[in-house]
Amino acid sequence: MALLEVKDLRVRAGGREIVKRASLRVDEGEIVNLIGPNGSGKSTLARAIMGSEGYEVEGEIRFKGEDISDLPMHERARRGLTLCWQEPARFEGLTVGEYLMAGCDDEEWARRCLRMVGLDPDEYWERECGEGLSGGERKRVELASVMVMRPDLVILDEPDAGLDMTSSEDLAKLIEWMRREGSSVLLITHSRDLAERVGDRAYLMMDGEIVEEGDPEEIVYKCRMCGGDLVCEAE
Ligand SMILES: Nc1ncnc2c1ncn2[C@@H]1O[C@H](COP(=O)(O)OP(=O)(O)OP(=O)(O)O)[C@@H](O)[C@H]1O
Ligand SMILES: [Mg+2]
Repeated sequence: MALLEVKDLRVRAGGREIVKRASLRVDEGEIVNLIGPNGSGKSTLARAIMGSEGYEVEGEIRFKGEDISDLPMHERARRGLTLCWQEPARFEGLTVGEYLMAGCDDEEWARRCLRMVGLDPDEYWERECGEGLSGGERKRVELASVMVMRPDLVILDEPDAGLDMTSSEDLAKLIEWMRREGSSVLLITHSRDLAERVGDRAYLMMDGEIVEEGDPEEIVYKCRMCGGDLVCEAE
């Protein structure tokens, strides 16, 4: 069954049409990759699907069969849709534990999510979320905070960006774990290794449009042919 269905989406911001025409689908239990060059509109598309403010959006966004395009972000989140931002926010004054417990009431589960992103809960639970964490640590906390909510669909906007010492193999394991725990995944990435390792299907976004759909290997190849700056760990 289609979990997320986006049809002919157009997104404008700052007087510009950033997403010109985008249609995509994520089925239940699927991991779907979205790849494309810098500035092609991937993050904007993700934010529009999530219901971020500041965009003019036209077209259809259906989640679990219902049109959610007029719902505010928190209502979309309540229905099981979450986005892990490319640039993680800072939450000054909150400890990691407090931040995670804002998304669920099961401390055991929250600690498990922290462990899954490679942070030892005994060491990090009481740490400050703001200044006290490095960029990579914050990104990991952000990934954990998304999973504590047990979303039906998680959009990961470049989970590999800023993550030190994490091989795409570890990230692939984390994403497969998300699926086993019941979350389908829309993965935005620049990592060729990651895109080829985890996706069931992939979309290619170019200049505001989704132009191709296919196997991850095929879409990675086409993206590189179109000048997409995919990074391969082996290179
Ligand atoms: N609020 C805005 N107002 C005007 N232009 C914007 C706004 N947000 C994004 N853009 C522009 O839209 C284009 C697409 O941006 P977006 O962040 O969606 O690209 P992306 O595919 O995620 O790129 P990257 O791979 O670098 O993360 C860029 O040229 C960007 O400068
Ligand atoms: Mg982006």
